[in-house]
Amino acid sequence: MTALAVHIFGSINLDIITSLEHLPRPGETVMAMATARLPGGKGANQAVAAARMGAETYMVGAVGEGDSGSWMLSRLKADGIDVGGVAMLPGVDTGTAYIAVDSVGENQVIVVPGANARLRDARPVSEGVLLAQLEVPVSALLPVFAKSKAVRILNGAPAVQEGRALFEHVDILIVNQHEMAAFLGLESAPDNDDMAVIAETARGLLRREDQTVIVTLGAAGALAVRTGWQLHVPALPVIPVDTIGAGDCFCGALAALLDEGVSLEEALPYATVAAALCTLGQGAAPAMPMREAVEDLIGRPATEHALPIKNRSAASLS
Ligand code: RIB
Repeated sequence: MTALAVHIFGSINLDIITSLEHLPRPGETVMAMATARLPGGKGANQAVAAARMGAETYMVGAVGEGDSGSWMLSRLKADGIDVGGVAMLPGVDTGTAYIAVDSVGENQVIVVPGANARLRDARPVSEGVLLAQLEVPVSALLPVFAKSKAVRILNGAPAVQEGRALFEHVDILIVNQHEMAAFLGLESAPDNDDMAVIAETARGLLRREDQTVIVTLGAAGALAVRTGWQLHVPALPVIPVDTIGAGDCFCGALAALLDEGVSLEEALPYATVAAALCTLGQGAAPAMPMREAVEDLIGRPATEHALPIKNRSAASLS
């Protein structure tokens, strides 16, 4: 088994997380019980998840030149992530997410993109796995997805409509139910308990026969679909501290395993367990689990399912 690398193109945010009894309604003022300043951003979270699953991980993104940017880079480096592709931009703030979490773990998120909106000139990836989300400009991602030879994974989060321009260039598209509904122009997402309906709906996002769409379903696990095929993986039941970053954890862990040559069918349960473990810690990046914790729960190492490198790109997706 030889892993190549996971290349993450995405956002890097400082997360300001406030704990509340209940989320404010429009016009309401609520008093916070606690506040924390933690590393986050969908790109950074996915990079940490991939690195903690053991992938050689490269981050491409942008931060501001101030203390927040330096701190975020130091946190990524502490997880062994190569940040050579992260620009430090003068005169702009690092992206910031203002997150409110209530007593049952529900949250509201407001993202101020800052430097993330300035990501430019990203280069295509020739091998391994490319993973991106939609908190950075689609215009920067489009040439990367169109020209990369790597396995291309897009997490369609948030559901920025321009992101649909990338769909024809992805090998795996990962969305949650709400993002799926938004991209398809539906008023609401299908119910979690009808996998046949979710599968048929998800197929509406396929642009090529060889593509896979994965719908993350929270407590109901994840559903992967292709034309004429589907696989539902149940979630590990947990009592979450918060669900911030759980979807990012799923994406980063899945990317790391596919990069090793683990098949999609075998990688999905590991990514689902990793996402459940992520909900047991506060915040996003700090809550990403180490590989050993995931393998302990599943009871066997993921490497048992790795493919030889020569069969990798086609077989890991089938
Ligand atoms: O997916 C969770 C992330 O979304 C948070 O870390 C926050 O920064 C927002 O980007």
